[in-house]
Amino acid sequence: MNVFVKKGMLAETKSQAVILTLFEDGKKLSGIALEIDKKSGGLISKLMADGDFEGKASQVAVAYSCGNLPSKRIALVGLGKQKEFNLEKLRAAFAKVMRHLRGMNVKEASTSVNLNLIPGKKDQIVQAAVEGALLGLYQYTPYKTVGREEFKEMDEFNIIADAKEYAVIEPSVKKAKIIADAVCFVRDMISAPSNEMTPSIMAQKAQEVAKRKNVTCTVLDRKKMQELGMNALLAVASGSQEEPKFIILEYSGGRKKDAPVVLVGKGLTFDSGGISLKPSDKMEEMKTDMSGGAAVVAALRAAADLKLPLNIVGLVPATENLPDGRAYKPGDILRSYSGKTIEVLNTDAEGRLVLADTLAYSARFRPAAVVDVATLTGACVIALGEEVIGMLGTDEELKREIRNAGEKTGERVWELPLWENYHEQIKSDIADYKNTGGRPAGTITAAAFLSKFVGDFPWVHLDIAGPAWTTKDKAYIPKGASGIPVRLLVEFLRGRAKQ
Ligand code: BES
Ligand code: MN
Ligand code: ZN
Repeated sequence: MNVFVKKGMLAETKSQAVILTLFEDGKKLSGIALEIDKKSGGLISKLMADGDFEGKASQVAVAYSCGNLPSKRIALVGLGKQKEFNLEKLRAAFAKVMRHLRGMNVKEASTSVNLNLIPGKKDQIVQAAVEGALLGLYQYTPYKTVGREEFKEMDEFNIIADAKEYAVIEPSVKKAKIIADAVCFVRDMISAPSNEMTPSIMAQKAQEVAKRKNVTCTVLDRKKMQELGMNALLAVASGSQEEPKFIILEYSGGRKKDAPVVLVGKGLTFDSGGISLKPSDKMEEMKTDMSGGAAVVAALRAAADLKLPLNIVGLVPATENLPDGRAYKPGDILRSYSGKTIEVLNTDAEGRLVLADTLAYSARFRPAAVVDVATLTGACVIALGEEVIGMLGTDEELKREIRNAGEKTGERVWELPLWENYHEQIKSDIADYKNTGGRPAGTITAAAFLSKFVGDFPWVHLDIAGPAWTTKDKAYIPKGASGIPVRLLVEFLRGRAKQ
C-alpha cells in the first residue's frame, strides 16, 4: 500500500473513505469531526445518538455520505477513554479501521492526524497511526495459488495535512514507512518455510540490504569458520546438508572512531532438536527459529534507510539443527571460538552454542554495546507467554534504554534476574560449562551460559521465543510472524543516535 501526505482539508477531500478518530468520552464533536458532521447533515452525531458508535477502543462504524461530502464514506474509529489513551490504542485503531475498510473492498482511504492527541508527541502520533495501518494490513500470500483473486488489498492511504502540519507530518510518515517496511520484510523472512529460507538465502537477504549506502555484508562459509575455530557453531551445523553461513552486516553512519553497537541474532532456519529430537507436534513452528537473526538484518536495513548517525554491526550465525550420522551428540565436548569448552547435554539447546561463538566474535568490533536477540528457550514462553520479551543483561543503563524503547514501541520487555547463584547450574564436571542447566529457570540459565562468552562490554539478551510468533490475531499483528523486536531495536538505535 502506498502512503501519501497531501496538503488540504479532510472535509474537502475526495476519497473512497475518510477516517475519523473519536474518543469514547468526547461528548461534543470538535475540529474536523464537527466540520464533517455539519457538512454531512449531522451524520456523525446521529450515529452516536443512536448508539451505533460510542468511540470504544478500536470500535468501527462506516456510513455513506450520500453526496453531502466529496468523499463516499465516513469511517469512524474509536480511541477509547481519553485518560486511558496511548500509542498502542492508536496503532490498534488504525489497524482495525483499515482492515475493516479492506474487508469492504475499499481501495483507498484518507485521514488527518490530530497532532495534539498526546501533548509533546507529534512525531510519535503520526508514526503510530501509519505503522498501525501498514502492519495491520500485512498478509503473507506468496504460496497461495488457488483463489488469489479473492485476496483484497488496499492500494492507497492519504494523510491530509494543512500547510502548518505538513512539515511535521511528512518526515514522520517517511520514517514510519521505513520502519513498517522493515517489519514486513522480517515477517516475510520468518513466514517463509525452511526449504525456502535456508542459511544461504538468509545471507542473500543480508546482501540485498548491503546494496544500501554505507552498508557492507561479509558472509563466512564453513571453511572460514573452521579456520577461525567456531566449533560450537559448526557442531550445530554438522548434521545439516545446508551450508552454514556466518553473516556480518556493517553499517557505518557514524564517525570512523565511534565504537559500534553490535546486534546479534540467532539464525536457526530450522531447529529439529538434532539427536535430542523434538516431538513432531508443532515442530513445523521451528522454521521461525531464525526470527532473531532476521530481526537484526531488518533493524540494520531500517537504520541505513533512516541514515542514523551511528555505526552498527549485525552478526547472524545461520544454520539448521538436524539429526544425521555426522550430527553432534549428547556428551560431545566442544572447544568454542573463545577457547572455553562446552559439554553438550542436549543437542536441542543449540541456540546458545551458535550464540556463544558469535558473542565471543563480537569482541573484535570493540562494541559500545552488544544486544542479542533469540528464540532461545521454551521456558520463556512458559514464564512470560506470547505477550512480552524476556530481558536479561549485565548493564543497567543499557537495560534502561531497551526497556524505554520497548515501552515506546509497544514491544515491551520484562526483566528476569541473572544472579550469581544461577551460574552454578551450568558448570560442567569435565568441561568449563554444560549447555543446559536443567528445567528450573531455563531462560535464566541459558542467559547465564551466554554471559560466559560476552567480553567486557555492556550486554543485553532478549529472549523472543514467546512473541516472535503469535497464535492469534492481535490488533496490528495478524497471527503468524510478529516482526518483534524490529521496532524496539530501531527505537533503541534512534535513541543512541540522539545522544
Ligand atoms: N528454539 C528452541 C526454543 C523455542 C521453543 C523457541 C519454543 C520457540 C518456541 C530452542 O533451541 C530449544 O529447543 N530450547 C530448549 C532448551 C532445552 C533443551 C534446555 C527448550 O527450551 O526446550
Ligand atoms: Mn533447540
Ligand atoms: Zn532453537
